[in-house]
Amino acid sequence: MKYGYFDDKNKEYVVERPDTPASWTNYLGDTNYGAIITNNAGGYSFYKSAAQGRFTRLRFNSVPMDQAGRYLYFHDKDSKDFWSASWQPVGKSLEQFKTECRHGTAYTKISSEYKDIASEVSYFVPRGKAYEAWMVKLTNKGKETRNLRAFPFVEYACNWNAGDDLGNLQYTQYIANMSVVDGIIDHGSNINMPEMPEDFQQKDQQRHTFFAMVGAEVSGYDTDRDVFIGRYNGYGNPDVVQKGECAGSLAEGGNPCGVLQTDICLQPGESVEFAIVMGIGSAQKEGAEVKEKYADLSILKNELEELKNYWHSRLEVMQVETPDADVNSMLNVWSPYNCQITYAWSRAASLVYAGVRDGLGYRDSVQDMLGVMHSVPEEAGERLELLITGQASTGGAMPVVKPFAHKPGQEKEPEANEYRSDDCLWLFNAIPEYVNETGNFDFYLKELPYADKGKDSVLGHLRRAIEFNLERSGAHGIPCGLAADWNDCLVLGYEGESVFVAFQLRYALAKYSEVSEKLGLTKEVEWAEQELRILDKSLEEHCWDEDRYVRAFSDKGFRFGAKENEEGNIFMNPQVWAVISGHANREKAEKAMNVVHDDLYTDYGIMLCAPPFEKSDFDIVRAVLFNPGMKENAGIFNHTQGWGVMAESMLGNGNRAYKYYKSYLPAAYNDMAEVREIEPYVYAQSTHSVYSKRFGSSRLPWLSGTATWAYYAATRYLLGIRPEIDGLTVDPCVPDSWEGFKVVRNFRGAVYNISVSNPNRVMKGIACLKMNGEIIEGNKLPVGEEGKEYQVEVIMG
Ligand code: NOJ
Repeated sequence: MKYGYFDDKNKEYVVERPDTPASWTNYLGDTNYGAIITNNAGGYSFYKSAAQGRFTRLRFNSVPMDQAGRYLYFHDKDSKDFWSASWQPVGKSLEQFKTECRHGTAYTKISSEYKDIASEVSYFVPRGKAYEAWMVKLTNKGKETRNLRAFPFVEYACNWNAGDDLGNLQYTQYIANMSVVDGIIDHGSNINMPEMPEDFQQKDQQRHTFFAMVGAEVSGYDTDRDVFIGRYNGYGNPDVVQKGECAGSLAEGGNPCGVLQTDICLQPGESVEFAIVMGIGSAQKEGAEVKEKYADLSILKNELEELKNYWHSRLEVMQVETPDADVNSMLNVWSPYNCQITYAWSRAASLVYAGVRDGLGYRDSVQDMLGVMHSVPEEAGERLELLITGQASTGGAMPVVKPFAHKPGQEKEPEANEYRSDDCLWLFNAIPEYVNETGNFDFYLKELPYADKGKDSVLGHLRRAIEFNLERSGAHGIPCGLAADWNDCLVLGYEGESVFVAFQLRYALAKYSEVSEKLGLTKEVEWAEQELRILDKSLEEHCWDEDRYVRAFSDKGFRFGAKENEEGNIFMNPQVWAVISGHANREKAEKAMNVVHDDLYTDYGIMLCAPPFEKSDFDIVRAVLFNPGMKENAGIFNHTQGWGVMAESMLGNGNRAYKYYKSYLPAAYNDMAEVREIEPYVYAQSTHSVYSKRFGSSRLPWLSGTATWAYYAATRYLLGIRPEIDGLTVDPCVPDSWEGFKVVRNFRGAVYNISVSNPNRVMKGIACLKMNGEIIEGNKLPVGEEGKEYQVEVIMG
């Protein structure tokens, strides 16, 4: 079943049916002021952190779905009928209520028509501002004069700390203090406390937000949620909206809300425009300033256009034209956009991440960098530095870095049992990618502090990362799993060993050697190469099991992923990373990847492991927590799918690489959205596998490692456009049905118009490469001149 379509030209996804099988969301704003909005205007807003800066409410996992939100109610003074600009919360019959939702890049527009009144509401955060705007246009499409009242509504949190607001009611029910100044609502909490802007994490401080209307006269207000809604009503039938008259309530304690009332008389064919602006600061100051600024609504309209241009320019860094329309929709808009959102909010703000997690989880956030290096290289450089300073002088990482509170050099060293074994090894993916994208090779020599004490060059940080794992290796010469390796569900014990991390370490050693060689550091090269040989030997001797690599050794002697195991006898990660790391020879690589194909591949993607754990002890594998076929228990864990695509591409199997890529491509499921359920334009953390009765249902959209690796695998390996320090490599690996494809890639300010043809229908290999008509030996395009365009012809064969 289909609920909408991709409007590629406008870079939007259009939801045509509002009764989607799950809330289909979008993100507004940036890491300063963020907001989530669903296709039915549900969602919440937050300042700096969704956990500690949450000032509006959403009831997670609620019935009906995704309430409350940014609602705009209408009351017809003559008929007494009422409805909302979005289908929900009032939920008029879809026979009479026509609506569409356009999710775009950091804006959402919901248009509806009900009984001849058409409404358009565009939600966005003007660039760099700490407030959001709901820009409204109302049109009377009928033949009668209409006397309406509009009521914009938002439900506030009492305390910005999401946990306290939800659970610590004996405190938070006594701290709201609402006022209205010149028609602007002031949402205050803890108003007798000082403001502490330097200490964002201090939740017990005075805070204010404002709620204003521009371009329309305010004729009433309410700030007490229970007065507005009525104690036994719901968002679908608020008391005030039914009666058509605000009560002028001022909440003191209890549950606050922001509601303004405006009267609108519309002649046939007439339109009016106005806007709601909500944001950080007091009504007296910031609210008043904003109201004055937007007295001319065209300023706001221009800001929406600026925002679109800004986002579109980020996307234009790489545009593709392949024979597959689904691939194009994803790679040109939604895949890189998903990467940006994941990079911005890590795993901290969504309809699933409800406010318990905060900050940048180390391993995830370092990986997230890979999806944005090309589009925001400068910003990415700053974030990368922040994350590098999250590495302790031991070489291991702090589990979480909080951008608004991080103090490099002064953080507490993590406890030994807090270290995860894979965390810092992801730096070997992210740092070279940054250097290759920007050409800033000196970055390796930049001195940066460790989280707790001391400092080192970036290269020194990388060496400490390697040493950290070498120093913590176990009986088989394989790095210890420590608190966890990438898989949170394997119980390895501190001394247990992770074969997956061993492959990561091998990748790290190879990268370190490569970089050291470029820096002329011969001793470092020798050291890395020697450690690599030792590690390879351990992997050879202990980790190969007939046709697969085992996953790990627990400190109790259990071999995860061994062929003889009844449950979990094959794991995806070690097979694909044996290839990615360069460890596996061709024969073993093929065997291992064939087992992945035969035992783990399903129509919806590759399972993380199989068969599921049902009888195993919890103290061996925590995956038994999950139903069979879900998440780490033999689910299709989408974070890892890109690695499967990369490994097959590296082996030259374009057909398989593409098959794997398509199997979890969101757009490929647009016509069967009732199966996948979540947004067809967004990647998800996991999909239920064949071991589940709900095979194909996907969960946890937006924020996971999936978006990054999907984009990375497709652009760098399938299409094969890879930035290197000395040029742009062109190394496609495509299905043999493709007759070619085109890519426009901006690389360090030069634009490459790359046209690939595949006359002999091969999967990999380049017969001829020309740049501006000149033949290029090999497959690397030289670094171009900033501002110049280059025509690149590639013939595969
Ligand atoms: C969720 C975490 O966010 C991710 O980093 C981890 O690797 C997976 N769980 C796998 O267990």
